[in-house]
Amino acid sequence: MSPSLSFSVNRSPKFSFQGEVKKHGNSLFNANPNHLKFSFREKPVSTTLTPHAVATEIPTHWYNIIADLPIKPPPFLHPKTFAPLQPQDLSHLFPDELIKQEASNERFIVIPDEVIDVYRLWRPTPLIRAKRLEKLLDTPARIYYKYEGVSPAGSHKPNTAVPQVWYNAQQGVKNVVTETGAGQWGCSLAFASSLFGLNCEVWQVRASYDQKPYRKLMMQTWGAKVHPSPSSITESGRRILEMDPLSPGSLGIAISEAVEVAGLNQDTKYCLGSVLNHVLLHQTVIGEECIKQMEDLGETPDVIIGCTGGGSNFAGLCFPFIRERLKGKINPVIRAVEPTACPSLTKGVYAYDYGDTAQLTPLMKMHTLGHDFIPDPIHSGGLRYHGMAPLISHIYELGFMEAIAIPQIECFRGAIQFARSEGLIPAPEPTHAIAAAIREALHCKESGESKVILMAMCGHGHFDLPAYEKYLQGAMVDLSFSEDKMQASLANIPHLT
Ligand SMILES: Cc1ncc(COP(=O)(O)O)c(C=O)c1O
Repeated sequence: MSPSLSFSVNRSPKFSFQGEVKKHGNSLFNANPNHLKFSFREKPVSTTLTPHAVATEIPTHWYNIIADLPIKPPPFLHPKTFAPLQPQDLSHLFPDELIKQEASNERFIVIPDEVIDVYRLWRPTPLIRAKRLEKLLDTPARIYYKYEGVSPAGSHKPNTAVPQVWYNAQQGVKNVVTETGAGQWGCSLAFASSLFGLNCEVWQVRASYDQKPYRKLMMQTWGAKVHPSPSSITESGRRILEMDPLSPGSLGIAISEAVEVAGLNQDTKYCLGSVLNHVLLHQTVIGEECIKQMEDLGETPDVIIGCTGGGSNFAGLCFPFIRERLKGKINPVIRAVEPTACPSLTKGVYAYDYGDTAQLTPLMKMHTLGHDFIPDPIHSGGLRYHGMAPLISHIYELGFMEAIAIPQIECFRGAIQFARSEGLIPAPEPTHAIAAAIREALHCKESGESKVILMAMCGHGHFDLPAYEKYLQGAMVDLSFSEDKMQASLANIPHLT
């Protein structure tokens, strides 16, 4: 038994306030000694106060959903030979421990103490009921959001940046390179690298580099070197610039540049902010915390919603809930939301494709628009990726989740409603989750159902205000998706039998 101090104070007939301070975590959760927090348990009486759950504990394990899937996901393939990938094929890119995690079938993987110690800077993150948004929408639905914007970089991305850099540091790696779309991932890796003393170099997608100068400055403040992508530093970048000197870039191009640099330099490894199994694994701290927080509030989600770029914040929240559903304990609808301008799940094909434009990464079976598809420069830079995480694609094929696409004007309309009722200004990416949650809440208004809607609020938009300015000035447009452009790009994916 861990020593603990528990207390419960009745402040009003409507609420009981319960708090607990633990000196040591139990086997699955770790107390945060920096925090003395309360779990507010709402009694079944109506109240105007906002139920707000801040867990006292950080999970001690990441959850690997592969262990619980009835059919295992297809293997990655070597980009040249098309043979199933072997661990050594990845060793120029990743440290051994991450390669092990990428291929692991173990259900739970221990989070190293050093990583938990950094997580303590912002975890556990709050779960908040959006009562004011519910009121604005006049809906009987109850809307909750799990807020990851409290991390130093402002999103969920440090949940994986910290362990990725830590495992590299353990193996004696001195330099890490990466791409960034929205700037959130680049910031997260720069932040984590500064903690563990590694050099960090980031290729920031040109459209985002121009739209978000403060993200670049944040990365530089944490000590990283930042290049716009496509850049003239790499062969992959030069090839794109020759074809289109004004290319807005894409995540696929920026990944090629970083992977190329890691491949050419023995002392340099590559880090990825989404898509791969180990990245999704690290993000499951979100869902593990959230399950406990929902329980504390006495709630069970009917619908769980998250935006998907490569899929990591969505997976992080949803995978632990899918585990509970597979056990038969709950039965929520799980819904991914993507931009209509880059709809890999809803419009793409399920096929083996490269993760990057220059065809340097392994082949992964995923929903893809084609590795050389360059999405129009929507404001959600983090959702401009041609493919979906292979694990999410597989789970989608198994029928455990659904997907929809929403255009950006509807997303920003929802974000403004959210900001003006709940206060938080969301990053452009989670505005997709907000718009979908609003659609669901308005359906509830029509049907009279009081569903519990849970959404992933994966980051704040403090450095994305030019996008809000466009919306507020009425200058935002919905960029249309071109089937022809997708078909042209799909013609270039490898055709494997
Ligand atoms: C705030 C935010 N949300 C979501 C995403 C999309 O990535 P993922 O689908 O991996 O969560 C990004 C990517 O950069 C992001 O910065």
